[in-house]
Amino acid sequence: MKHYLIANWKMNPTGLSDAHRLVTSYHLNRSRSRYEVVICPPNIFLTELSKRHRGDFSWGAQDCFWEAGGPYTGEVSAGMLRSLGAGYVIVGHSERREHLGETDAMINKKVLAVLRAQLSPIVCVGGGPAARNKQVNAQAIVGRQLTAALHGVNRVAAGKLKLLVAYEPPWAISGVSGNTPAPVGYALEMASYIRNLLIKKYGKPGKAVPVLYGGSITGDTVGKFFGNKECNGFLVGGASLKPKEFRKILEIQ
Ligand code: PGA
Repeated sequence: MKHYLIANWKMNPTGLSDAHRLVTSYHLNRSRSRYEVVICPPNIFLTELSKRHRGDFSWGAQDCFWEAGGPYTGEVSAGMLRSLGAGYVIVGHSERREHLGETDAMINKKVLAVLRAQLSPIVCVGGGPAARNKQVNAQAIVGRQLTAALHGVNRVAAGKLKLLVAYEPPWAISGVSGNTPAPVGYALEMASYIRNLLIKKYGKPGKAVPVLYGGSITGDTVGKFFGNKECNGFLVGGASLKPKEFRKILEIQ
């Protein structure tokens, strides 16, 4: 299966010239990279970056609204993102669940809106604030989040339009003191649990849905995950803002 590397820039950098510099720093001998690289900058940079670096990378957004248009101040629809050059949209990131109160029902509406706009959703599951307590039954929470997010998505298409799932435990996301990557065995077990849920729901096509891992991936930690069949790529936050670090991730063989 093709591997995906999603660069989630979150709310960085401050200006367009820094954004250009960052994308330029990702360039490498493309044949050496095993991934499809999807860059998800803040929406405000999407048009310029996807035009200037057209063909070099795929592009995505970090969120969208579920309606196609109308009186929703501050929101951006999936169709608008498509017109800016996005092919992918991250949906249900734990930071949005935690800081913006996104619920499973909202996330489900967003997933359906992304698919309606002919874009590929990258659905994040990992537990939400409750899963910071590692004692809770994380599988049950992840299972509930995934089932809710995919409600009404009755089949997964082959070809260009894809569903991707990212397992991202909130306690592993960098930038919060004390967070560390999930132990590899634990993350792979969760990925395989997610895989089984996808197969149960979609049958054989469920086997082809890429399941990614995210949480404190760096040039040093990526090697532990890469090459395991359960893990079809990475959602990378902090390290995607550090050119050297990100290139190390890109170049892993
Ligand atoms: P991190 O973020 O790589 O900085 O841990 C991952 C994410 O939140 O998508």
